[in-house]
Amino acid sequence: MSGYDVSALRAQFPILEHEVHGKPLVYLDNAATSQKPRAVLDVSRHYYEEQNSNIHRGTHHLAQIATAAHEEAREKVAVHLNASSKEEIIFTSGTTDGINLVATVLGYSGRIGKRDSILISNLEHHSNTVPWQMLCERTGAELKVIPVRDDGTLELDAFHRFLDERPKLVALTHISNAFGTVLPVKPLIQAAHEAGALVLIDGAQAIPHLPVDVQALDVDFYVFSGHKVYAPTGIGVLFGKREHLDDLPPWRGGGEMIKKVDYAGTTYNDLPFKYEAGTPNIEGAIALGAALDFLEGFDDLDAAAHATSAGMDLRFDDPDRSAQLARRSHRLFGRVGDAAAGRRNAVLRQQALGLIFVNVHLFSGTPGPVVLLTDTPSSTNQLG
Ligand SMILES: Cc1ncc(COP(=O)(O)O)c(C=O)c1O
Repeated sequence: MSGYDVSALRAQFPILEHEVHGKPLVYLDNAATSQKPRAVLDVSRHYYEEQNSNIHRGTHHLAQIATAAHEEAREKVAVHLNASSKEEIIFTSGTTDGINLVATVLGYSGRIGKRDSILISNLEHHSNTVPWQMLCERTGAELKVIPVRDDGTLELDAFHRFLDERPKLVALTHISNAFGTVLPVKPLIQAAHEAGALVLIDGAQAIPHLPVDVQALDVDFYVFSGHKVYAPTGIGVLFGKREHLDDLPPWRGGGEMIKKVDYAGTTYNDLPFKYEAGTPNIEGAIALGAALDFLEGFDDLDAAAHATSAGMDLRFDDPDRSAQLARRSHRLFGRVGDAAAGRRNAVLRQQALGLIFVNVHLFSGTPGPVVLLTDTPSSTNQLG
């Protein structure tokens, strides 16, 4: 999309054609779930009208095209996350499902025991809390919680103190659903690895807003939900480093996850199918691929420039991106900000730096809150 045309963008979301109480529908609840653009809805419909079949098991035409479309979607997710291979992409039903998968198989593996601890933060969604509590109940391990300061940032000193106790796993959100805090996950992952812990990052709120490179982050597990990123409900992704997914046991048993079944013993399938028992959400996976295409076609610099012109104080952590944003703002709007915007900026600057919650802006035509976008290892780089 060139330039930033809010009406053209709204027109891509059929639900926004509706009026509520005589006014155009404005939807701001994107952190809970996103609305779906026509590009995604068309792909879902096309699947059921022209491709519908079970996959990985039929030799007929529909089975072949549905299987190809499903696996192409897996490839798109792998490219979007920069995973080193598509075998590291497991389709789940969402973030909650992915976290439960990891917690359950870690439990089965016997890697977590009585004297171990699991570290989370006080910023976590229940999905990234309760599965670890349940794992602790089953194994006798202890759940440790990193406190959060009043401004929504992590107590980094406490994080490092907890790491001295050598937790087996650290599970953290990338962006907090409650505060918008963006955790500097890269240095946190590095520190956790130095302490010998595996790391799971909950990307439910990050995937719609940030580029995520799982290899650059060196993260062990990364999970997200399709429905928060323009795809349907009931589809999600677990990225896992191949070495861990190969080593860990399967979780659900059934069709697809097996290579050979014998009453005397079963041989499990290769990745990624080992973790995908039963008929998957085929249409959801294909639509997720379309949603990621939609996201990649969206120019965040234009959106950020538009928000800047409306008085938001936006900066990218990367100075080159900030310079690009400044140029883009000038091109799109001639000048950036005005006196009222300057006052708003002063307030916003106290709150945060970084990237707008693009979706909020996208649907409402009014800038939403700002969050910090950074991966720099310093506590001042969290929302503050
Ligand atoms: C940070 C975070 N983690 C996990 C979840 C759970 O996502 P889902 O219900 O799609 O599994 C949410 C949903 O709001 C979330 O915001």
